[in-house]
Amino acid sequence: MLDHLIANNRAWAERKVADDGDFFKRLERQQAPEYLWIGCSDSRVPANEIVGLDPGELFVHRNVANLAPPQDANYLSVLQFAVDVLRVKHVIVVGHYGCAGVNAAVGGKRLGLVDHWLHPVREVFHQHRHTLEAIQDRRQRLDRLCELNVIRQVRNIAFDIFVQDAWARGQALSVHGWVYSLANGLVKDLDTTVRRLEEIERLG
Ligand code: CO
Repeated sequence: MLDHLIANNRAWAERKVADDGDFFKRLERQQAPEYLWIGCSDSRVPANEIVGLDPGELFVHRNVANLAPPQDANYLSVLQFAVDVLRVKHVIVVGHYGCAGVNAAVGGKRLGLVDHWLHPVREVFHQHRHTLEAIQDRRQRLDRLCELNVIRQVRNIAFDIFVQDAWARGQALSVHGWVYSLANGLVKDLDTTVRRLEEIERLG
């Protein structure tokens, strides 16, 4: 049933080797990505493809609504490995406009377990409810919530003890917040980059 996927895989691997004979041999020995991508699971936001990076160049963690919850062992394990072992130079939180997860968090409809997962998004909404409710257009309001959610996750990461310890020992590490547009395929930098402890102030 999945023959077409296996066929795609064969063709892809052949193309890679045709372009660069040592491609897989090199990757087999080690990975040395400079970036950790924390993005949404949405199938329309494929991490490597959007930023034109090959296997080995981007360490990736994806979940519904691109969250970095301080108690989530999955995310924390990825973050620590990326910071302490791989020594990535950049952590990029990538949200996207039109995020169904963000929408569901404040949509009022009960979906099940994911409602609990999306709890942090409801908190972000509540924190900014006055500015958000002042935005008349529903879609624009949700888009702004997508941005605010990214900024909150950047803050979570910047407050993380692995990240703060890395800064304390002088490791070069920046945390960035981006939003991707499904409409035109472009990412927007939210200008919330934190490069050291003192810059946390920027995040409010
Ligand atoms: Co999404």
